[in-house]
Amino acid sequence: MTIRRVAEIALSCVSTVLIVCSLSPAQSHDSAALALTPPMGWNSWNKFACDVSEKLIRETADAMVSSGLKAAGYQYVNIDDCWQVSRAADGTIVADAQRFPSGLKALAEYVHSKGLKLGIYTDAGRMTCQKRPGSYEHEAQDINTYAAWGMDYVKIDWCYAEGLDPEVQYAKFRDALAQAAHPIVFSICNWGVKAPWRWGPHMGNLWRTTGDINDTYERMSLIGFSQNGLEKFAGPGHWNDPDMLEVGNGGMNRDEYRTHMALWAILAAPLLAGNDLRSMTPETKELLTNAEVIAVDQDPKGTQGHRVWEEGTLEIWVKPLADGSYAVGLFNRTEAAFKMSFDFKTIGIEHPSKLRDLWEHKDLTVQGDLYTTEVPTHGVVLLRVYR
Ligand code: GAL
Repeated sequence: MTIRRVAEIALSCVSTVLIVCSLSPAQSHDSAALALTPPMGWNSWNKFACDVSEKLIRETADAMVSSGLKAAGYQYVNIDDCWQVSRAADGTIVADAQRFPSGLKALAEYVHSKGLKLGIYTDAGRMTCQKRPGSYEHEAQDINTYAAWGMDYVKIDWCYAEGLDPEVQYAKFRDALAQAAHPIVFSICNWGVKAPWRWGPHMGNLWRTTGDINDTYERMSLIGFSQNGLEKFAGPGHWNDPDMLEVGNGGMNRDEYRTHMALWAILAAPLLAGNDLRSMTPETKELLTNAEVIAVDQDPKGTQGHRVWEEGTLEIWVKPLADGSYAVGLFNRTEAAFKMSFDFKTIGIEHPSKLRDLWEHKDLTVQGDLYTTEVPTHGVVLLRVYR
């Protein structure tokens, strides 16, 4: 063999190695790209708990389209706990055949045919919270099953995980997801255990920061207003998750649900409706589909808002937006209506060029450097302030 031939072989080996090296990372998905803005969709748990079925999911997908939620940006239809019953002899997870007679793959095809995406739920521990089979020691196998079914989103819970380390366990799913045949949004649901905002940004697309929400003003506001300080951990691809929405489930009045939506939007929180989409009142529909409020949540800058002022339980929160404007929420957590003032200098503005009320869809008159308005009890005035 000539020296030249040896050199050629050596060179082609180098380029082969380089190609192989540059191929393997390219095979894994750009996970951040899956959630450049906070995920929007629906999840079965808050309203239906274990009463999930193929019929419910199909009807919900239909309703997401016909109600206008899809047009407003909602796209994931997420099945929560109780869809699974056992494991086959080879360890493959088995869906409840009575409730999902056509199987999950066919269901994903149906949901995709509506231009929507389907999500699924499991648990990193030995059982789910409702005692269905957990994914412990089946992490990659389960992810591959979901990918083969065409799932687009997975929420992974943390029940029956005694003695396990969330960072170690969730990394197994992250690695399996990176190699999965289908890109899947990764929702970590360990209720804030071991500060997931510290390791979550390298692990998944969103991580729960608290225990479960319920359909009361007390619980919703406790969770929502406790998020201050977590803003530095969120950004495009990676979001703090203060839990799913309760809007439309009946336990709060309109002003309280406005607070819920406005606060979640300022927090750049995932917007996962948790009500029955098949039977929404016009008021619920309006709360969930307000384009100006959703634009605050989905703003491409991806900055989570924070509290800039508080006096007792009167609070002002601000979220900077991509076009240089600011969303400002004046929240009244007291038991009576209150006059609240916002000083534009708080956000470095002397005199806004435009001031808009996002719930009322109207431009407001600016006089001086303060805006004063009455905020209803448990309610919010949500403003957009333009430089
Ligand atoms: C909880 C979780 C809820 C729901 C429930 C299902 O741990 O926080 O969002 O998924 O389990 O059993």
